[in-house]
Amino acid sequence: MKRTVRQYLLHFFFILLPVMTYGTERAWSSDLHTWTVEEIGVLRSLSIDSLPPLPKDPTNKYADNKKAAILGNIFFTDSRFSGNLKVSCATCHPANRNFADNLPLAHGMGTTNRRTMPLIGVAYNTWFFWDGRKDSAWSQALGPFESPVEHGFTRTRCAQIIIDHYKDDYEALFGPLPVFSKRDLPALAKPAIDEPVSLKAWITMPPDVKDAVNRIYANMGKAIAAFMRTIIPAPSRFDHYVRAIVEKDQKSAIKILSSDEVKGLRLFIGKAQCLNCHTGPLFTNGDFHNISIPQPADLPADQGRADGIAKVLADEFNCLSVYSDAPRSDCGELRFIDTDTDKYAGAFKTPTLRNVAERAPYMHAGQFSTLHEVLEFYKNLPPGQRSPELGHFDLNDREMHQLESFLRTLSGPLIFASD
Ligand code: HEC
Ligand code: HEC
Repeated sequence: MKRTVRQYLLHFFFILLPVMTYGTERAWSSDLHTWTVEEIGVLRSLSIDSLPPLPKDPTNKYADNKKAAILGNIFFTDSRFSGNLKVSCATCHPANRNFADNLPLAHGMGTTNRRTMPLIGVAYNTWFFWDGRKDSAWSQALGPFESPVEHGFTRTRCAQIIIDHYKDDYEALFGPLPVFSKRDLPALAKPAIDEPVSLKAWITMPPDVKDAVNRIYANMGKAIAAFMRTIIPAPSRFDHYVRAIVEKDQKSAIKILSSDEVKGLRLFIGKAQCLNCHTGPLFTNGDFHNISIPQPADLPADQGRADGIAKVLADEFNCLSVYSDAPRSDCGELRFIDTDTDKYAGAFKTPTLRNVAERAPYMHAGQFSTLHEVLEFYKNLPPGQRSPELGHFDLNDREMHQLESFLRTLSGPLIFASD
């Protein structure tokens, strides 16, 4: 039977045209923002709405004490705790810049061998520093004071400043300060193996004075940790997008992220395999990985976590120490620490990707100056050096741009105690 022109036209308008346009329309809008149940599960796991309440810190009984947090914030910004009266924690971790300094290597009294870490969601960490050589935020805080290239200070001088300037605030929280004679607190004393004069001054102090100084020092750290604990991220554009998707509000979702950003998100959770390490609402598994970042030629070799393991086990302020408030049973992470140094040679802690676009340069020694360089690194790593967890990375230029666009959606305000 011959078809009439009318039949052809009807066929075209009611069957062919809808079929032809259906695909393009989907690709344009709704399809891009349509996620499977499993994908929505992944998006939710990354969203800030999945951030659990702050984990308890049994090693620090002042962790959730508001007055301790206020005092800790003051210590954090007080540059009298430094050899040249110019360096405070905030020098390298300024609150108005995501608590980081945008330098490849941090600069205090001198220059460090590593890059300043962001403090976003710091209380969710199990291990601290790029190599995890500390197991609590308060014991971490005691490191920079005595580092010659950071505060260039000593714990005896910290104790003296507490006595001279913070007596009332300190005693209101931690109880009476011991009474020291001037001779009891030699300014230079600290247990620094590579600083013989300071070491000798420390060793020759009576054990009860050393213990009393250590207690003041530990309490300072506990107040600072109570402050740092309050630094948490607020929702970013990515989080608003996930909320809209979960609520099946596609109309809003489309307005929150551009199509390139959503395509980048699809790559992040799919083909690019970033989720192997950058998981959960802080985009980190908190673990250590050697991803073959080249060490800058002018810096000493850095074994990262492989050296951090022995350091945290030997740390005089760790969970099992007399200065920790935790019972031994709460120190499982330290007692059952993975001591496989071969596995952790050259491994560094997976950093959070929240606010990542705001804090170039990147990696443990600031090896890359832009996000583009980071992605080029992941892309160009030769197969021989590519850890199996990194997967293949055959993204084209367009996809590289999309992935980078997605990373930029993770920026949002930070909330902390003084707000
Ligand atoms: C000279 C700059 C500088 C100063 C001053 C400084 N930091 Fe840092 N901070 C760094 C660097 C660099 C790292 C990484 C060091 C490493 O891994 O060896 C770091 C790491 C940290 C971390 C670890 C974060 C994590 O995710 O593991 C915390 C917490 C921290 N600093 C808090 C402080 C506190 C508290 C003070 C003051 C007592 C302070 N910092 C002083 C540069 C500095
Ligand atoms: C095998 C685990 C692993 C995988 C998979 C992985 N990363 Fe990383 N990422 C790390 C570690 C570890 C570092 C820090 C390395 C260092 O400093 O030596 C890092 C650093 C970064 C940084 C720099 C952040 C900063 O503050 O310095 C960015 C950006 C980043 N990764 C993005 C990605 C993206 C995007 C993907 C997916 C293509 C990805 N990562 C896949 C482990 C991983």
